[in-house]
Amino acid sequence: MNRQRIFWLLPMLTLALLLNGCIRTPHPIIEKNTTASQQGTADAAPVFIYQSLNYAYQTDVSKALDAIVTNLDPAYLLLVNRDHLLDADYAPQSLTELTCSTHNDKKVTLESRAAIALYAMLAEMTADGITDVAVTSGYRTYEYQQQLHKQYLNKEKARITPEAYECLGEEYIQTKYLDQGLSRLSDEDALKVVMSYSALPGASEHQSGLCVDFVTSDAMLTQSFENTEAFDWLSQNAYRFGFILRYPEDKTVITGFSYEPWHFRFVGREAATELYFRCMTLEELSGLL
Ligand code: DAL
Ligand code: ZN
Repeated sequence: MNRQRIFWLLPMLTLALLLNGCIRTPHPIIEKNTTASQQGTADAAPVFIYQSLNYAYQTDVSKALDAIVTNLDPAYLLLVNRDHLLDADYAPQSLTELTCSTHNDKKVTLESRAAIALYAMLAEMTADGITDVAVTSGYRTYEYQQQLHKQYLNKEKARITPEAYECLGEEYIQTKYLDQGLSRLSDEDALKVVMSYSALPGASEHQSGLCVDFVTSDAMLTQSFENTEAFDWLSQNAYRFGFILRYPEDKTVITGFSYEPWHFRFVGREAATELYFRCMTLEELSGLL
């Protein structure tokens, strides 16, 4: 990135903020130097260095701070979606098996730095009295995503699901299927529905090892996760640990996925703070960069 592009970045971010009607006001304890300096060559992805970004934590995050603060390390801004695919053999350089609470004690792995940030975040949640939360998914291989995708496709072909109504609309399903006495979607419609909530292999950021899916005792990857204390806390505090809500309800057209209140992505604290207060997605940030 050259200096001219850096010069335009802040005004463009501000314009994006005004246009998307974002009304989050910066946290009073933020002290940051937004006149970030830039490192890297013209060919390298941009790196910004914030001189200070101080938050108060209830728990001792000192051991995790190096992990949380990435100074916008491009590795943690990796954009993965249907237009930005990972190779089938891509895997994070360093993976850690999680030792925090996981759903049914299943084995979940995560990129190592993201894992440290996750532990710090969960400790702070616990300090705030939120204990009904567990991780159900982190890093997934290409092959596992392929398997998941097939499984979902079979489900959508077998019956008309709430996800089908959400994706295709009630009127469409009524006219094209129910009025004709049909109770199964066409292959094309089934695929469209699956694509709204499950990425094709290579297009899932779970393969980056940088994101986690959370569950509670009564919200298992359903939109009811939105009504949990865990979500309430995460949606207001995750950025302080470098995580963002990756698929917000009002950004489905941009992300290409339906609302996932349970899916949080690690990008590092500086990027998470920018994205949170500017109500932006990783796609929008990458577009500007
Ligand atoms: N559910 C998310 C979008 C994935 O499949 O990666
Ligand atoms: Zn997820």
